[in-house]
Amino acid sequence: MTHGFDNLMVLDHPLIQHKMSILRSVDTGKKKFTELVDEITALVTYEATRELPLEDVSVTTPLTTAIFHRVAGEQPVVVPILRAGLGMLDGISRLIPNCRVGFLGMFRDEETFEPQPYYEKFPKNLASAPIFVVDPMLATGGSATAGVSFIKRQGGRDIKVMCIVAARAGVQTLLTAHPEVKIYAAAFDEELTPNAYITPGLGDAGDRLFGTL
Ligand code: PRP
Ligand code: URA
Repeated sequence: MTHGFDNLMVLDHPLIQHKMSILRSVDTGKKKFTELVDEITALVTYEATRELPLEDVSVTTPLTTAIFHRVAGEQPVVVPILRAGLGMLDGISRLIPNCRVGFLGMFRDEETFEPQPYYEKFPKNLASAPIFVVDPMLATGGSATAGVSFIKRQGGRDIKVMCIVAARAGVQTLLTAHPEVKIYAAAFDEELTPNAYITPGLGDAGDRLFGTL
């Protein structure tokens, strides 16, 4: 489902919807929350990696030799936005084990809602790599928009954003700034609270992942 945005993919698969209903619950504790973020990330990865290029490979099976296909091109780069993005790193790296990882530390000022960068460490040669930015929450979109701008300044071009919950305002902001970026989300919520939390949402993803509630 695209909810009116050409570059938004909301993955409404029954397994994702089921897991999201548990993830959102205030009664779900840290262990289960972390496991669900991991599982949902893997399911979102399946769709977000659909455009990876393939090349022919000759494989000898026990019966014959035939041409099959394997992923080709530059090693993908995964960029978790710290802290909460770390909760999605295992889920995506398990499916792309040879990925390189870039880190972008950013927290949201809870009065201005502006992203505050505090750390970055990136692999080289971003220009031809497929890049997957991972952050569970796309709320105002400030953090993801700043993150994508930063990656572009480092030379990144082929950038996709993966999240767990995307809010309409965040999608609008990100796609206005970076219209070519594709967003993959497990759920889409219409509203933000006056404190810029996604509602119904799931609360503070970083706090629930890392037990800092
Ligand atoms: C959360 C979340 C995003 C950001 C989303 O991080 O993980 O990075 O807020 O909000 P936005 O779309 O309005 O920018 P937070 O600032 O709480 O930091 P944390 O990951 O360290 O908890
Ligand atoms: N950050 C979160 O963790 N949750 C929200 O709803 C908004 C920003």
